[in-house]
Parts: sequence; structure tokens; C-alpha cells
Amino acid sequence: MFSVAAAPETPNDKISYKKAADYWDKIDPSIEGMLGGFGTLTELDCATSIRFITEFCTQTNSALALEYACDCGAGIGRVSKNFLLNVFKKVDLVEQNPKFLEQAKVDYMKEEVTAGKVGDFFPLGLQDFNPEVGRYDMIWSQWVLGHLTDDDLLAFFLRCKAALKPNGVIGVKENVCPRGVVELDEQDSSVTRPAKALEAVFEKAGLKILKRAVQTGFPRGLYPVNMYLLQ
Ligand SMILES: C[S@@+](CC[C@H](N)C(=O)[O-])C[C@H]1O[C@@H](n2cnc3c(N)ncnc32)[C@H](O)[C@@H]1O
Repeated sequence: MFSVAAAPETPNDKISYKKAADYWDKIDPSIEGMLGGFGTLTELDCATSIRFITEFCTQTNSALALEYACDCGAGIGRVSKNFLLNVFKKVDLVEQNPKFLEQAKVDYMKEEVTAGKVGDFFPLGLQDFNPEVGRYDMIWSQWVLGHLTDDDLLAFFLRCKAALKPNGVIGVKENVCPRGVVELDEQDSSVTRPAKALEAVFEKAGLKILKRAVQTGFPRGLYPVNMYLLQ
């Protein structure tokens, strides 16, 4: 996901959930593990996401309630702890690797769990996650959607749409491929889609882009990172 070398254009049906699960199972349940050695990006990443949401709330009459968020592909809870719980009162975490969720529960997010700020931990792949209808104010997916095939991504967005409260939004923060092709990372079996391909899936799901921004300040050589709020 964080590797830089370009691979030839690859259809996303090369994605293997089994291969991805095996890859992540060997990864240390730590911030460095989550970000492939780029753990120091957390502060800037999360500060930018916080600004993105607060700008949305102040610049539009969004009426977004800052109550209940869902962190999809949550890993050990890096995004929940450093971004979502600075904005929303409560989060649920969805993550396919139970080891990462356990680390969140007993260590990385222990304080937040004790304070009652964490609702449910769902040990599920997003392709199998079927959130309760009308539950969330925001469903945020970061650095995980490249693990889903186009068909599963579309179905996931449709389920997320139904799981929003009135005025709720879907948030996406993902690498995008500047070369205009879908690139496969053979190591973790994820793809990096060009922005156009990602936005085509939003459109197919009937999701409108309410706000979009590009992450700035990351080291050169990494993929560009786009942020979206959708409804
Ligand atoms: C690059 S890490 C990002 C973690 C977290 N979003 C963050 O930004 O710190 C990717 C995460 O996605 C998880 N993942 C991979 N495939 C997944 C799937 N199909 N459904 C849910 N999570 C998945 C991995 O286990 C890993 O925790």
C-alpha cells in the first residue's frame, strides 16, 4: 500500500482477501506497522483530517451531528484515537485482523475504551460488514479501500449509505494513482486506483462528493492522498 514502485496496469480482480489477510497477520500491531514505517505521518495526517471535517461543518450548513463515527479498516485504532475521537463522541472499529483489534482494546485505545468512547469492535472484512441501518453520523475509511474489489467496494458503499443517520456522511481518505491506471501491490494484495476510478464507484453508488481535498506535506515519492466527504 505504501510502496512507491509502479506496477503495470492490473485489473482489480487480482485482489485476494486471503493474501491480504495473510500479509497483515505478519505485521506488527503498532503505528509503524499500520503505516509501513511511516508512523511519523500520523500527526500531520490526523491534523489534516480534523481540519477537513471542521471546515466542512463551518463552511457548509451541513447539520452533521458529531456524535457517532465508524472507523473502517481501523487497524489498532490510529485514526480513531488521533482523529475521529477528537471530533466525534463515540466510535466503532471495523477491522479484519482480530490481533489489531485486541491491541486497540487492551493497549492503544485502553483509555478511550475505559472512558466509554468506543462502542463495538467488529472483527470483519469490509466486504462482509453490514452496518446497522441509520446508526452512524460518519463512516470513515482510510487506507483500506484498495483491499476491496470494485464490486465489493460498490456494495460496501451502498450498505454504508443505508447505515447513515440523517445528514450523515461517508468519509474516504485513500492513496490515488497519479498515472491514471490501477496499480497492484503484490505484497499486501491491494490496489491503488486513480482518483477517476474511485470517483466512478462513488457515482455508481449514488454518492455525491460534498467536499474533496488533497493531503499536503507528505514526503515526495509517496502516492498522492485524496480526502472525500460523500452523501
Ligand atoms: C494501511 S493499514 C491502515 C489502518 C488504519 N486505517 C490507519 O490508517 O491507521 C490497512 C488496514 O486495513 C486492514 N484490512 C485489510 N483488508 C481489509 C478488509 N478487507 N476489510 C477490513 N480491513 C482490512 C488491515 O488489516 C490493516 O489494519
